[in-house]
Formats: sequence, C-alpha cells, structure tokens
Amino acid sequence: MPGAIIIGSQWGDEGKGKIVDIIAEDADYIIRFQGGNNAGHTLVVEGDTYTFHALPSGAVRGIRGLIASEVVLDPRQLADEINSFNGDVNLGIDPRTAIIMPWHNDLDYAQEKARSKAEVEIGTTQKGIGPSYSDDINRWGIRFSELVGNPDTLEERMRAVHEEIQEKTLRGVYNMEPRYDIDETVLEYQKFGRDLKKYLADVSKEVDMALKEGKKVIFEGAQGTLLDLKFGNYDRVTSSHPMSGAIFTSVGIPPTTMKNINRIIGITKAYVTKVGSGPVVTCLDKGLWPVEEEKSEYEGNYIREKGHEVGTTTKRPRRVGWMDLIALKYTQRLNGFSELALMKLDVLAGLDKIKLAVAYKHKFGRVLDGDDYPSWDLKFLSECESIYEEFDGIGSEEEIRGVTKYRKLTKNARKFVERVEYLMGVPITIVSTGPGREETIFRKKFKKF
Ligand code: IMP
Repeated sequence: MPGAIIIGSQWGDEGKGKIVDIIAEDADYIIRFQGGNNAGHTLVVEGDTYTFHALPSGAVRGIRGLIASEVVLDPRQLADEINSFNGDVNLGIDPRTAIIMPWHNDLDYAQEKARSKAEVEIGTTQKGIGPSYSDDINRWGIRFSELVGNPDTLEERMRAVHEEIQEKTLRGVYNMEPRYDIDETVLEYQKFGRDLKKYLADVSKEVDMALKEGKKVIFEGAQGTLLDLKFGNYDRVTSSHPMSGAIFTSVGIPPTTMKNINRIIGITKAYVTKVGSGPVVTCLDKGLWPVEEEKSEYEGNYIREKGHEVGTTTKRPRRVGWMDLIALKYTQRLNGFSELALMKLDVLAGLDKIKLAVAYKHKFGRVLDGDDYPSWDLKFLSECESIYEEFDGIGSEEEIRGVTKYRKLTKNARKFVERVEYLMGVPITIVSTGPGREETIFRKKFKKF
C-alpha cells in the first residue's frame, strides 16, 4: 500500500504534523498539495520544536518533499525555512505553483479591512493566500516557472503586473499605499529565483513514477476540510481544497492512482478549535470571535490554555468547542477516511465531565444527526444547539499524559474513544496523549506504512 493521504477533519490545527512525522518515518515522498504559509505545523522531536509553514513536514527527516501545483508559495518564508536547515533539504517544487508576491499581503490586509466594514470579516492569516489564488485564476499570477526563469523576463512581468494591476487596485480601489518598494522587490525576487532554481521539479511526473514504482508516498493536507473553499463554511473559509480528492488536480495524477493510495487518515482532535469567524455549533466561547475569555465557559478556557490553542501562524487565541460528530461525519463522507487519529486526548484530562455532540437541534425544531451538515448555511448553523452525550472525566493529567498502551488508558478514556469510533463507524488507529512523538498510542488496528 504505497500511498497515504493525511487530512484535517475539522477547521485545521488538528495535529497533522505529528502524524505525518510519525508515518513519514518509512516514507519516500511527502507532498503538500494545497494552501500556503497560512498553515503551520509544530513538531516536537526529541525535545526540539520545529515550526514549518512552507516546507513539507518530512524535511526534518530528509525525505523527498514535493510542493504541488495548487500550493501558493511565499519564497521569503520558504527561503527562511530552508536556511534554518542550513540548506539541507530534499525539495522539489512544481513549475505551476503560484508565487505569493508582496502585493498579495497588502491586498489581503486591504480586503480584510473592507470586509470588516461590510461585516463579513473572515479573520484571514494575512499571508496573501486569497489574493494569490485569485491572481492565479485571473491569469495574471506569477508562477514558480517564471520566478526561476529568465531574470529579465521576470522583471518585466513583475513590473507590468505591479503597474497595470496591483498598484492601481491598491491605490485606486482600496486607497492604500503599497507597503513594498517595487525596485527592491524585483531584486529580491530575482535572487529568490536564482536560489530556488535547483528545486524545480515536475511534481506530476515524479509522483506518477513514484506510485508506479511502489514508492511510499504521503499526501499532506494543510488546514482542515471545514475550511474548504467549496465544502467548508463559505465565506469563512480559505481559498484552497483541504480534501482528499484535491490531490488529483493539484498533483496532476488521475483518480485511477487510488488503487495505490487506499489509506486516507482523518486527523481529529478530541475537541474542536477554529481560528477566524464562522459558526462552531459546539463552541464554548459563546460563539465570539475574537475570543473574549471572560465570557467563555470554564471548559473553553481550560482546554484553550492546556491545549495551547493559539494560532501557530497568527498567534490569535482559537475558539474552542466540544467534539462534533455531525461535522465529523460530514468530513468523513467528503474524504472517505479509512481511519482516524484522535489527537490531544490528554488536554481533556482533569475535567469532571466531557461532552460529545451527537446531533444538532435547530431553533425551529429540526434535528440533524447524520452526515448532512449544511456547511453552506451559516445562519442555520448559528441557530443550532448541540445535543450532547456526556461522559465522566477521563482521568487526571498523570493518568492520561504520555500513555503509550491502549490498555493503560483509564476505563473512562477508553469508553470515550470507543464511543466515537462506534458512532463514526471508522477505526481510531492512533490516540495521541501528548505533543511528543513518543506520547502516542498505536492501537492493534494500526498498520505501519
Ligand atoms: P486565509 O487562509 O489566510 O485566507 O484565512 C482564511 C480562514 O482560514 C481564516 O479563518 C483563517 O484563520 C483560517 N486558516 C487558514 N489557515 C489555517 C490553518 O492552518 N489552521 C487554522 N485555520 C486556518
């Protein structure tokens, strides 16, 4: 079974990085297929903490990391990360990958301000993600092939796009002075072009070959499915597709390759979090974004503090809620998870009671208890209440943190895990009991890659 897809099943920040890192031990390739440096993976390896925003997380292990075409790439971020490994990375970047330019950061800022006035603020990461995807679709984006191509042609393209489109948009539409200097930017990006040229790789071809040769390939999702541009809570979403099906169009491999990729791992936390606005039915923060901790439930603040639920990229406190099986059944249906990894169980330790949402009740009485989560209807979702199953506390911090054998977990913790598994109808193969690689339970059903 050479291929595995790893996907966030909630709103991102489920702990994908840790699982990718564990599974990657035996992998030949790790492929990022969507998003950009709006994502952040924090990994703890033998006590050292690594944070990646642009590099595929396998870089710590020297595995071949590939950036596929539907990623948006900020060369400034990438260059920093490569330098932090003293250039010692095994990396390939697809020529079709869209490049984040400084005007995208300015546009992200200006558009968020405009959205805020129109009361439709998303709370983006301000990394220029949406504007660079829009430019690619508008067909005036700059791609990796051009960044690393002829420097004079790059300069011409950058100046033309800047003068005819971006500058006019920033000044004319948003009344904003560009925060970058075009002359300096041209020189800076020409240098990135020279430095990054060696990473140019036809990812489509390379992955096709790898799968045919039976190599072990991991497709690493960023964000989570509920942030998907189409299937998430539009318009409070990101601009890409954090879903298993997206690997085909991003990497450029046909759906028939699924015969080689029949493992789809859904990463899910034992509770939920969301950065940015949008409905979270099980929210413990009165739905408020930004979070106002003094108005939150005790459990909300407890989980946020214990789980360090602060954005890796933005440093903003995340909203917190109980685990939500209606949303999870929906993302299960969209992605076809063959197994689930239950993350951060230890964060719930120490609470007297924990809850699991098994249905929603809308204010006019409609009950939802299947996988028909109406992702598109933000108003309806904001009018729903959760119907919970309540569990006795799973145990103390000492009893849960760092446990590595399933049978050593407390009876109450196992009851919770098995109830989720039963209701989802999907095996939970991994239970995470702490941030470290070693703080992990591999259940009997878990197969090594
Ligand atoms: P953007 O991706 O920066 O445009 O932000 C769109 C929405 O997605 C915002 O609510 C962000 O907070 C959220 N978002 C983007 N990337 C991540 C992530 O990696 N984890 C969690 N939320 C994210």
